[in-house]
Amino acid sequence: MGTSDSAEWQALAEHHREVGDRHLRDLFAEDPQRGTDLVVTAGDLYLDYSKNRLTRETVRLLAALAERVGLRERTEAMFRGEHINPTEDRAVLHVALRDPRTGGLDVDGHDVNAEVHEVLGRMADFADRVRGGAWTGHTGERIRAVVNIGIGGSDLGPAMAYLALRDYSDRSLTFRFVSNIDPTDLAEATRDLDPATTLFVVASKTFTTQETLTNAKEARRWLLEGLGGDEKAVAKHFVAVSTNAEKVSEFGIDTANMFGFWDWVGGRYSFTSAIGLSLMVAIGPEQYREMLDGFHAIDEHFRTAPYGENLPALLGLISVWYVDFFGAQSQAVLPYSQYLARFPAYLQQLCMESNGKSVTLDGSPVDVATGEIVWGEPGTNGQHAFYQLLHQGTLLVPADFIGFAQPNDLTHDRDLDSMHDLFLANFLAQPRALAFGRTAEEVAADGTAGDVVPHKVMPGNHPSNAIVAPKLTPSVLGQLVAAYEHRVFTQGVVWGINSFDQWGVELGKVMANQLAPKLQSGSAPEYDSDSSTNALVRYLREGRGR
Ligand code: F6P
Repeated sequence: MGTSDSAEWQALAEHHREVGDRHLRDLFAEDPQRGTDLVVTAGDLYLDYSKNRLTRETVRLLAALAERVGLRERTEAMFRGEHINPTEDRAVLHVALRDPRTGGLDVDGHDVNAEVHEVLGRMADFADRVRGGAWTGHTGERIRAVVNIGIGGSDLGPAMAYLALRDYSDRSLTFRFVSNIDPTDLAEATRDLDPATTLFVVASKTFTTQETLTNAKEARRWLLEGLGGDEKAVAKHFVAVSTNAEKVSEFGIDTANMFGFWDWVGGRYSFTSAIGLSLMVAIGPEQYREMLDGFHAIDEHFRTAPYGENLPALLGLISVWYVDFFGAQSQAVLPYSQYLARFPAYLQQLCMESNGKSVTLDGSPVDVATGEIVWGEPGTNGQHAFYQLLHQGTLLVPADFIGFAQPNDLTHDRDLDSMHDLFLANFLAQPRALAFGRTAEEVAADGTAGDVVPHKVMPGNHPSNAIVAPKLTPSVLGQLVAAYEHRVFTQGVVWGINSFDQWGVELGKVMANQLAPKLQSGSAPEYDSDSSTNALVRYLREGRGR
């Protein structure tokens, strides 16, 4: 039976025929309580989903779909550590990474809680030593700069969160995040650093990733060149985060300086594993724990709240409503916080690597649309760039607006209140304009010339969620990320796909390895029928004088 064959799916299809064209202006006019009723809270998060093209009946039908597909049972299976990632035969237990319990969860013969807390303890000890100056470099000087080398899930989480929580970080330390194999990334990150006071955190789940290992080798060369070539320096300036002790030691990093995690942590779900080490050094173990507790609060909410009041589940179900019944292909994420500038990029991996799938768990083709293109930029910058399309374009782009009541007070000695009010006024104005628009009559009433009127009409009926919290704190960041993790899980269960593998990225990696020698040697064999790649190889080889 296909996903779309169930009675619950068919009921939604029928319901869409009835309400899909209704305008938000009318939905609000008919239901005066809408703006206060179609909201849910979870932890410190407040979700207003009233500006979506749905009714209370839609929510009921979506919740029924969630029950039908067994979202509750799948969630429990995830929390129990069952192997819900069948193509890799793995458990999916990122929720255990933030569980405050120090024992009790036995998975595949291991006390998962105990192992998590053992690593967290080692991380805290290390972070305190770096922050306090007890961890010194090869020349005896204290560490002043931490460079995280990793890519994908081994970069985006800590890089996004470091930026988000900068106001909580130790400002006497410099943090850089290097991911790209483009040699300029590492060169720019290290050009003003002193090798004697720089620490590299090499973060890779597999410790086989081409980009990370290549950057790490180059970083080691840079370090040794700067410190007179003594190999012993490596132990003082390199630590590793990985599941692969053998490869770490092969690389030349002492496994005593390795922080481990487990195959049941997916790369894009790994930021609360030891992958968060550089972030912990930045904000300190206590605030890091506050962040983990924020994650945990939403994990528990997701596990227990009924779907009509379940914030992450509602986010996921509403997105299914748009992707599958309205044909929406993208989802904008618009944080009104410059600190969250990398949040959309982080979500791109989380959402698109998880749910960019076209077969169901049993390998048969999906019969409904899956995934969505996630993109965004912080407001208000985006307003002056791409919002025009959101307001007057022909595409349906559901948007998540994220905002905070209080600003993070950067300098702690000036009043940012009125500036933040202006910021929040924009945060409120945009979803309002998107939802309600401006009619031709309203435009004409302003005295606009007749032929210009259609150009100024704002059709409205563009849906959005508003997610607000008192302030961007470590805990709130954890809550926000956990909410999106479970949103992705909800979607994946409804679509019947495996949200936890990523076979699609492998082919490109294999081809890159095949192409590298072709760029280096003029006599390398060419592909038979791919005249495009052959010509590009020739162009690039010539451009490099080969
Ligand atoms: O290319 C995909 C991927 O496997 C991601 O899922 C992962 O986060 C990233 O590569 C980095 O992998 P690793 O942590 O093993 O270096």
